[in-house]
Amino acid sequence: MSPKFPTSPKPPTPSKFILRHLTALALTLALPLPIFAAPEAARTVADTAPIAPDPKAEAFVNDLLARMTLSEKLGQMSQIALNQTPTGADVDDRIRKGEVGSFLFTTDAARISRLQHLAVEHSRLHIPLIFGFDVIHGFRTIYPVPIALAASWDPKQAERAQNMAAREASAVGVNWTFAPMLDIARDPRWGRMMEGAGEDPYLGSRMAEAQVRGFQGEHIGEPGHILACIKHFVGYGAAAGGRDYEEANISDEQLENVYLPPFHAAVNAGAGSLMSAYMDLNGVPATGNHWLLHDVLRERWHFSGFVVSDWESVQSLSTHGFSSGPADAAARAVNAGVDMEMTSSVYHDDLPAAVNDSTVKQATIDDAVRDILLAKYRLGLFQNPYVDVSRAPSQLVTAEQRTAARSVAASTAVLLRNQGNLLPLSKSLHTIALIGPLTDSKPDTMGSWSLAGHYEDTVTVLEALRKRFPASVAIHSTKGVEIDRGAPTIFDAQFQSPKPTLKTDEARESEFRHAIDLVKQSEVAVLVLGEQQSMSGERASRSSLKLPGQQQELLEAAVATGKPVVLVLLNARPLDITWASEHVPSILEVWYPGTEGGNAVADLLFGDANPGGHLPFAWPRSVGQIPINYARNLTQIPDDPDHRYWDSSSLPLYPFGYGLTYTSFTLGHLKQAAPSARSGSTLAVSVDVTNTGKSAGDQVLQLYTHQRSGSASRPIRELKGFQRVTLKPGETRTVTLSLDTNQLSFWSSQTHTRSIEPDTFDLWVGTDANASDHSIFTVTE
Ligand code: NOJ
Repeated sequence: MSPKFPTSPKPPTPSKFILRHLTALALTLALPLPIFAAPEAARTVADTAPIAPDPKAEAFVNDLLARMTLSEKLGQMSQIALNQTPTGADVDDRIRKGEVGSFLFTTDAARISRLQHLAVEHSRLHIPLIFGFDVIHGFRTIYPVPIALAASWDPKQAERAQNMAAREASAVGVNWTFAPMLDIARDPRWGRMMEGAGEDPYLGSRMAEAQVRGFQGEHIGEPGHILACIKHFVGYGAAAGGRDYEEANISDEQLENVYLPPFHAAVNAGAGSLMSAYMDLNGVPATGNHWLLHDVLRERWHFSGFVVSDWESVQSLSTHGFSSGPADAAARAVNAGVDMEMTSSVYHDDLPAAVNDSTVKQATIDDAVRDILLAKYRLGLFQNPYVDVSRAPSQLVTAEQRTAARSVAASTAVLLRNQGNLLPLSKSLHTIALIGPLTDSKPDTMGSWSLAGHYEDTVTVLEALRKRFPASVAIHSTKGVEIDRGAPTIFDAQFQSPKPTLKTDEARESEFRHAIDLVKQSEVAVLVLGEQQSMSGERASRSSLKLPGQQQELLEAAVATGKPVVLVLLNARPLDITWASEHVPSILEVWYPGTEGGNAVADLLFGDANPGGHLPFAWPRSVGQIPINYARNLTQIPDDPDHRYWDSSSLPLYPFGYGLTYTSFTLGHLKQAAPSARSGSTLAVSVDVTNTGKSAGDQVLQLYTHQRSGSASRPIRELKGFQRVTLKPGETRTVTLSLDTNQLSFWSSQTHTRSIEPDTFDLWVGTDANASDHSIFTVTE
């Protein structure tokens, strides 16, 4: 490896431009000026340029603002949860008085319509309400969970899913979703890993943009679309120990290079709103963090949407020991840049006094309200606030939605192992054992955050198989074991996994024996195991990655029968399947696949769909390996990466980006358009890919780079491009990946600036993070 920069004892003299930039940046960040500057040739990467304001919208909103009382302004800044509000009469009264600008948690078109009519027709200024809901992976039709969408490595599928979700949500009058979640997650103990795109900032950024486009359409206000809310700003995925809501301690370097980029990408893609996170980031609560919400979001990125808090996170600034009480919490949140308060009411209760004694400036309130009103304007709510209640039912779970949900679900599955090509299964089997606690559970096929979904719409794996085969094919099915998280969840009242019914050891043993008997009577066994939906999601962190309950024993007993076994996993985090990876011939990860999940799984099992998903995280062997993300820096004795532990391998079970298919591919002829590229330009990299197998299939080409030297050490590999392609058997295609050298920029802890540093880079193209087709390029000034 080349030596690291700087090699001379004297740091190079920074150019005037860089110095000026650094001084400004150091002042903004309130950091001391760094001792080292970027190499002179480094090209500093500018933050986003401001978007030109819409004069018509601004004039409309400013006129309205000038006529509003403080109470009406605070109303716009208050969001009420309809599942928590005391009585309908109180709600109506507050709407009439203009004391509320937004509701969350109602999905009933008639109710939304009634409340909107009340606001528009009976409040003094006729300002429409905005209705928010967690449309996370579908509305009534449930799509695969977001981690699965990321596993498709196909932004078009993610966009399509969120576009279809937006259609349903907007049909009932929901005009704002609290999604997408852009938190990078490198600790699968954290239950909310399922809501994001996994460990990588590049993949996360592409998925972020795609989902924003899916929800919002080409522009905010496009019919059939809704406002996106990127969350949780920022660092929530780095919760200490993977324990939900715990503090996150993230270095500036990691924050700038790993955690912020998906948010920045989504802001650039036009996301209309953002949610502040619950936890302390480096000791300062994200919801009271002026540096984050103002300096980064507004000054650097020119975000022009509005900021909503997370649930009661304004009030809980005092719980953190940050604010001295509710009044201080309200003042500090609004002064930090939180425009709307979700569910707690300290803005309403305490901001009048704060404005009166100038703790909060009137201009700060006006800025917050302006952003909210602008969002309502851009959504078209002032022109057309009402939902067509009679049309709504016809828009839900349509045949078109089902078709899309089924194909998106199939595109997200990841084939982890397929010894002897056991999969796809023959369509002429006579007896199939379908075993496991998740074979026939509707909520567990849907996944967490499916609050507007209906169980009865959902097709389980068992139902799909029964429907697919004539009665002459015996599908022997039973649970074998039951699982239960054993602790209540915050969603139990709305959405619940089945509760155990086997009450005695005897009953449990007999069920277990019955399952194994069914395996013995069958030609093949498909075990559908994993986690119940409630074992993942908010407040669903774990300290172990083991298959819950007696599922491991069931799996081992099924394999011991000598029958061919397929393991189908329903879950949203990597589980400890090290034993299975050596003993179970075929393992198919299908995540929580949604309303059409059972049909999609059946398509995959019998070869009507070919798995083409790849992992959006490195899959650890055990909980002890966490974190095991692929993009880490090389350090001492790098040539023996497998022996960082003496008691186990230190390599993941499956690398980041890994996934098999039923066909096979070869890669070759890696070419670069040129040996070097000017910083800021694009370098075309091409590779020939051939489908050498017997069925059509998808492959995901992935491009990784490594900067050999610079003002800081750079990760051994970083994803910088990818493309999913479909090839017919025998087909060869030259796939060109555009490497945008702006993607090579990084924030250096020495220079405290983001720049592209001219240097030599390694480049690999392949089908996972162990890609081996290699070349070298240089980036010049
Ligand atoms: C709390 C969660 O952290 C957030 O993601 C969600 O959008 C809100 N509750 C509203 O449900």
